[in-house]
Amino acid sequence: MMLAAVYLFGIDGAAVLHLERNLPLPSNSTSIEQLTARDRARHERILRGSTAVHGVVSFPVYGSADANIFGLYYTTINLGSPPREFKVVIDTGSDVLWVMSNTCVNCPRSSNLQIQPTFFDTTASSTARVIPCTHKDCAPFNRSGTAWCPRSDQCGYTIRYLDSSATSGVYVKDEFHFDSLLPGSRIANSSSAPIVFGVSTYQSGHLIDTNNVADGILGFGRGDLSVPSQLSSRGLIPRVFAHCLKGDGMGGGTFVLGKILEQGITYTPLTPNKQLYFVNLQSIAVNGDMLAVDPVVFTNRGTFFDTGTTYAYLVDEAYNPFVNAVTAVVSQSAAPAMREGFQCYLVDVSVSQLFPAMTLNFAGGASLVLKPEEYLVQSVVSLDPAGMWCLGVGKHPKLTILGELVLKDKIFEYDLVHQQIGWTHFNCSSTPNVSVSREYFVNSVRSRLSTCAGLLPLAISTYAFLFVI
Ligand SMILES: *[C@@H]1O[C@H](CO)[C@@H](O)[C@H](O)[C@H]1NC(C)=O
Ligand SMILES: *[C@@H]1O[C@H](CO)[C@@H](O)[C@H](O)[C@H]1NC(C)=O
Ligand SMILES: *[C@@H]1O[C@H](CO)[C@@H](O)[C@H](O)[C@H]1NC(C)=O
Repeated sequence: MMLAAVYLFGIDGAAVLHLERNLPLPSNSTSIEQLTARDRARHERILRGSTAVHGVVSFPVYGSADANIFGLYYTTINLGSPPREFKVVIDTGSDVLWVMSNTCVNCPRSSNLQIQPTFFDTTASSTARVIPCTHKDCAPFNRSGTAWCPRSDQCGYTIRYLDSSATSGVYVKDEFHFDSLLPGSRIANSSSAPIVFGVSTYQSGHLIDTNNVADGILGFGRGDLSVPSQLSSRGLIPRVFAHCLKGDGMGGGTFVLGKILEQGITYTPLTPNKQLYFVNLQSIAVNGDMLAVDPVVFTNRGTFFDTGTTYAYLVDEAYNPFVNAVTAVVSQSAAPAMREGFQCYLVDVSVSQLFPAMTLNFAGGASLVLKPEEYLVQSVVSLDPAGMWCLGVGKHPKLTILGELVLKDKIFEYDLVHQQIGWTHFNCSSTPNVSVSREYFVNSVRSRLSTCAGLLPLAISTYAFLFVI
């Protein structure tokens, strides 16, 4: 799946990518059922554990980058009064949070679904208010003409994603529940704040797949409409968050609002004036050898990090040099083969012994080093490491998109105060140290500067997660 919103790329974005439909789709519902049952058990353990944490603003993470399982990571959020829980895909590649409406025409709801979806019922939440379609109320949500008026008392929207799926519905303002941690405080304060989100009445594309276990999408992009922007602009959450997506087996991981205190994080600047987490990729090396690619191809339309995309995509001009370099390294011991347009290799030993490292070099000297399992996918999932492996890196006409395949098994920190993104390899089953300091809160920065001129040390609360995996 590729859930970066098309309007962020201009209209030609809609036509660009059908590649990922050729990749393996989730196949066996039995395994999904087993996995989600285990996930639910894990969820209960995590919830019990997290109540003991000192005010962590964190969300549980489920799902996996493995397309044979689900292909995306998701979390649970609580909306409305009384609060109801929704499973939503964590998507740094779009801005809007939406969940399915109980009046949805074609949302997945048949009895053969493995997990019954939860639908948002505007009439059942005492605090829900539909945004009317006046200019004052609706215009702030009309990014690139995505808003329209199904009725005069409803501000509607249509969002298209890069994989040509789409959703439409109406904007609603209602309570979003979260645990807030004020700077200097070590006590979690369960609170809620009104935010604007979409309630979808129509879906198309991947969004109607019956193996889609999510009730909606949590837009975590950089734009004004995203949940972190709505909450952090009011000083309710810090302007820094991080994820650690566990790659093997069951998937899952950590998604937290706070600054990571682990060693070895390297940062690259976010590029200015972009809605998403765009960075400057400068070069790619395979087996330590730099590909002969003009760096301008990466910065032309850009390179961005996207948890809403399952695989990775290289801009057209870099794709063939990359494939050729990998093939040259392994051709003695792996038989190249094409499968549905993808470059694959038949191997008889583990790919980690055979394939080279892939290194992405970014502005500021930060490198992302990928092991073979972080850019290859097994075409039929099996415990036997031999067999057919395919590059999980597709070709895109304009963009370079770094999706979950390359993001997993590392901590990624998105620091919007210093406009940078950083990462380090990390075992996502263990518990990263996180801090929350005043400088990351919009309102606190102002009051601190006016009262103590920054001379006092910042109050920092540090804690380890108590996740029980
Ligand atoms: C899916 O699971 C069913 C039931 O366990 C099994 O019979 C079938 O062979 C599986 N299919 C695949 C493609 O693994
Ligand atoms: C949103 O903007 C487009 C132009 O970009 C305009 O045609 C449309 O009427 C606007 N919708 C609303 C509800 O204001
Ligand atoms: C907890 O949140 C409530 C509102 O949700 C607020 O009134 C109260 O002051 C907060 N308490 C602390 C200790 O921050």
